[in-house]
Amino acid sequence: MTMYEIIAGKKQGRELTKEEIQYVVDGYVSGDIPDYQMSALLMAVCLRDMSDRETADLTMSMAHSGEMMKPETGGFNVDKHSTGGVGDKTTLIVAPIAAACGVYVPKMSGRGLGHTGGTIDKLESIPGFKTELSYERFTEILRQNGLAVAGQSGALVPADKKIYALRNVTATVDSIPLICSSIMSKKIATGADGIVLDVKVGDGAFMKTTDDAEKLAELMVRAGRLAGRKCTAVLTDMSKPLGRAVGNSLEVIEAVEALKGNAPEDLWEVSLALAAEMLAVAGKGTAEECRAMAENAVSSGKALERLSKMIELQGGDPRVISDYSLFASPARKKEIFADRDGFITGISCEKTGLISLRLGAGRSKKEDAVDPSAGIVFDRTVGDKVGKGDRLAVLYTSSECDLEGIAADFAGVFRYGSRSACPEEKNIIKIIKGY
Ligand code: URA
Repeated sequence: MTMYEIIAGKKQGRELTKEEIQYVVDGYVSGDIPDYQMSALLMAVCLRDMSDRETADLTMSMAHSGEMMKPETGGFNVDKHSTGGVGDKTTLIVAPIAAACGVYVPKMSGRGLGHTGGTIDKLESIPGFKTELSYERFTEILRQNGLAVAGQSGALVPADKKIYALRNVTATVDSIPLICSSIMSKKIATGADGIVLDVKVGDGAFMKTTDDAEKLAELMVRAGRLAGRKCTAVLTDMSKPLGRAVGNSLEVIEAVEALKGNAPEDLWEVSLALAAEMLAVAGKGTAEECRAMAENAVSSGKALERLSKMIELQGGDPRVISDYSLFASPARKKEIFADRDGFITGISCEKTGLISLRLGAGRSKKEDAVDPSAGIVFDRTVGDKVGKGDRLAVLYTSSECDLEGIAADFAGVFRYGSRSACPEEKNIIKIIKGY
């Protein structure tokens, strides 16, 4: 078997064998297969696709390319993963809810990528909060409080680390089997018994159409099942930012408010669906029972207590829960007003993410520092009637960015029209159960 034959086979659309896939993953991780050959194979996969069997084999080979975690909690461990969005702070809401309902949530999260935000950057906006934890400390916190959130350990899934970096520079990111194997190899290696996938659909997501999102979701659910995990995918809307806040500390505050019962409708609907699915995969009850348990965890204040405890156990200042002035405050702000009368028929999600990045809430380069105070808070959303001069949003930053220029560009994220042009709100598009 040679890499040349494997590339040539895939170029002709041949289904690769399990042994060939293992050979590729092993060879690339060890450095025996050079980047130029791997790049050629990745492009052939993008153009020729992979069968479900090949995708499952690739996922498992990648998952086993490094350490496999299995946090010993004595209970059911559930992970939740979002394919990435703008204003997506659901982890900070659903993980404490699930923990308050008796499920363990060992969560390895990422930093912001491109125009999308990351949970680790959000949590690091809490003064003192640590996301680098040893495996022992991570497990200890998990056992004590039911949830722990840390950055991905370097020893997990080295194959994804190398392949993802190569895909990023060879225009081979947007391949459904490659996205599936990248996400699911990490989920499987972190040892969750149950996995709830939040597959985002819309202009702010990787998957722009429901058909593509459904295909990706079904493939991921099947890969999870083949690995012996209980898996569900929830397709959710990302055609506008989720909730009203975009940016690190702003999103933490919105998540805390959600756990106090004050979430905007879209954010609550998505969070409730995800939390209920986390409880359902853990066998906590029927769909209705799980929704009721999740609602009760919020109304009783138990979920908020879990979040507060997690902040304390991970070195942060839990007083931020009741005193938002403890977050770094932005040095500058700019209010944005409507320049006409009408209905808001759309808010461009991807452009909002990019504006947030320019304000300092994300990174343009890997080594950039993020501004924890930067971001956007919307006063108005899609479907709202506005009059000329009404305030639509406030931009915040502590960086030296060109705030006036950014504000002028931000005005373009809003689309206006008549009431009949407002899209029907559909936050949950579909649920695909894999067990
Ligand atoms: N997130 C990942 O971890 N991998 C992908 O390929 C896409 C999104």
